[in-house]
Amino acid sequence: MHEGEIPWEETELVQHQIFLHQKQQLFLGRDLEVKRILEFLNMDQVNPIILDNNDSPDQRVPVYQIVSEPGRGKSSLMAACISRAHQVPKSREFYHFVGCCPSSVQLSNIVMRLCCFLIPDGPVREDFLMKLRNCWRNEEMKDILKNVLKTSAQLNNMTTYIFIDAINQLLSPSDVMDLSSWLSTEGFLPLSYKCVITCTPGSALHNLPSSNILDLDLLSLDAAQSLAVQYLSRYCKILSSEQLHELLQKSSSTNPLWISLACEELRVYGVFEMLTKKIVELADTLQGLLESIIQRLVQEDDSNRVEKTLCLLHCCQEGIAEQDLKGVMSSLEGVSEIPTMHWASLRRTLSSLLRVGRDYRGRDTLSFFHGSVAKWCTSCQDSYRKP
Ligand SMILES: Nc1ncnc2c1ncn2[C@@H]1O[C@H](COP(=O)(O)OP(=O)(O)O)[C@@H](O)[C@H]1O
Ligand SMILES: [Mg+2]
Repeated sequence: MHEGEIPWEETELVQHQIFLHQKQQLFLGRDLEVKRILEFLNMDQVNPIILDNNDSPDQRVPVYQIVSEPGRGKSSLMAACISRAHQVPKSREFYHFVGCCPSSVQLSNIVMRLCCFLIPDGPVREDFLMKLRNCWRNEEMKDILKNVLKTSAQLNNMTTYIFIDAINQLLSPSDVMDLSSWLSTEGFLPLSYKCVITCTPGSALHNLPSSNILDLDLLSLDAAQSLAVQYLSRYCKILSSEQLHELLQKSSSTNPLWISLACEELRVYGVFEMLTKKIVELADTLQGLLESIIQRLVQEDDSNRVEKTLCLLHCCQEGIAEQDLKGVMSSLEGVSEIPTMHWASLRRTLSSLLRVGRDYRGRDTLSFFHGSVAKWCTSCQDSYRKP
């Protein structure tokens, strides 16, 4: 490494920190869920909640799994728990959000990041990293990781929390299976370790006791209402009680992703007198809502850039450097560079669907703010095409 260069693990960490921060922006409800997870992490000793035996997490099993369909709020819940874990004395927390940047979808990336987190900078760490770089099979990686975990546990007596979000988004399905089964194998994690993972139902582990699994439900109606009110109040928008009632009557209103997208749609809607009609007309499925948003963006787009940009983003789902995206768009149009003003306007138009991150070279990256956006982008391509 050259002098002044930032170590790779630090530039990686920044990308996870940005994602963590974004998911922590507005977090409402979920009191019981947070309590259950904190109890698993053994942190609620000051004010223990009395849960009946069936609900008490099995403390011998060091893995807790949060399961739901996409968009129900797993990443947000995990982000909230990470900030609570951070306040626990004599503990440290490692977090990894699969999908937050391109490298994050590799199992080897998680293992190497864990190694850098657990082992202090020096020859021991370098030796582990070199072994990891040279290993080809997951079985070898498993043995090295086990050694890393053990070595680190011997080096200090802190409790270690490991949070891994969206395990199902790892690049290879066999990696998903391998990582979950390693973590849940008895004796793999040292006694001072606790691990929380999230995944979709299709990738869930079935060998955990039911008390260590949280099937994440929709939001309560109260939380959905607070979400709508607080989301819009950040932009000085207030819905009348009739409008709020209309919004909450929609069958998807307690789906966190649906209500967040719906609020964003209402925020950018300019015709105040027609707002109630707009609310009534909101599609009440996630797919329908996303389709109508994309359709609106494409139809309002005189520059003919929105559709192309969405297609390109679809090809780079873990994010692309904004400069690179601009470069590809410029060459598609046969110009040396799209004017900055036009680019800024395109980025503003698409802002409700985008997440801005930062890559390892410190450049802004753009990606869809949620995986579901990419999914529905393809499915509604035919319907949003202009005639
Ligand atoms: N408890 C919550 N409070 C406020 N907003 C939430 C909450 N849970 C989810 N959201 C919103 O819904 C979106 C989707 O949630 P996310 O945590 O990404 O779901 P998942 O990880 O299950 O796909 C988030 O970006 C956030 O805007
Ligand atoms: Mg998620």
